[in-house]
Amino acid sequence: MYSRRKFIKVSAAGASLAALSNASFASGVSNSADSFPIVISTWDFGIAANKEAWKTLEKGGRALDAVEAGVKIPEGDMNNHTVGRAGYPDRDGHVTLDACIMDEFGNCGSVAAMEGIAHPISVARLVMEKTPHVMLVGDGATQFAVEQGFKKEKLLTPESEKAWKEWLKTAKYSPVINIENKQHAPGNQYNHDTIGMLAIDAKGNISGACTTSGMAFKLHGRVGDSPIIGAGLYVDNEVGGATSTGVGEEVIRNVGSFLVVELMRQGYSPEDACKEAVNRIIKKKPQTARDIQVGFLAINKKGRYGAYAIQPGFSFAVCNTEKQDLLVKGKSIY
Ligand code: GLY
Repeated sequence: MYSRRKFIKVSAAGASLAALSNASFASGVSNSADSFPIVISTWDFGIAANKEAWKTLEKGGRALDAVEAGVKIPEGDMNNHTVGRAGYPDRDGHVTLDACIMDEFGNCGSVAAMEGIAHPISVARLVMEKTPHVMLVGDGATQFAVEQGFKKEKLLTPESEKAWKEWLKTAKYSPVINIENKQHAPGNQYNHDTIGMLAIDAKGNISGACTTSGMAFKLHGRVGDSPIIGAGLYVDNEVGGATSTGVGEEVIRNVGSFLVVELMRQGYSPEDACKEAVNRIIKKKPQTARDIQVGFLAINKKGRYGAYAIQPGFSFAVCNTEKQDLLVKGKSIY
């Protein structure tokens, strides 16, 4: 399907850049400056999402429209159990979705722990555009969505229900997220957990979107970083944008995406800013950090991008005029 797809691995140990055909691609950090429009997204499912976003960007459309359209692809994917309508449920069998969106003016909108609505990102955008608020949660978010014309539907798919019932048999409350190196955990390599997308349009304006079904089999009412502005997503049109994936509790504790943007404001490259944010998480909880995944993805005003994660396995997708479906394996601390 992706005939032009390139996948370039840069291990934590550091592959020899000289050995790679294009070192600038390999680092995922030193892409040519001023190369926008551009859209980047977390994980391999970001490739399809970027393609959708690109349809808006290549026509000269607004980054905000691009990121909303882009992340709706994994939100609607019935095979994606970590984002959107086919997401795994919480401990009690409810599918609860989280999303947020932020534009070039600093406007933002968010929904959290929302049930029964397939595209939380579009509801988040309407919270931003049609209410004086930033965030709606739970039943209030669903009520608002229905009032805005969204269809309320049962989101729990047969596959998700089966996985949840299997998990219940363990009778042990230990939800796991995004641990790519644990094959049999709910957070194995098929559980990427979040799409975070950042785009710069032809005018140089930045927007971002972040959406997830959250930690599989979480406590009912648990909310992670993804719908929290500053944690799962932050955009400052003068500086750049950042988004995160992984264990949301650790990202919230460190206000991760805001931190990455502020570090870029101080002159850090996107990759170095992401690395510093990851290191803050590790420093605060070194033992916990051994067993969890958190990854940050960032882009600066010039269109340079970078990423860093705690564990190996994190990847991100890039789409611009030069690279339509590039998948980059990000660097990691361990
Ligand atoms: N990063 C998604 C979550 O923790 O819910």
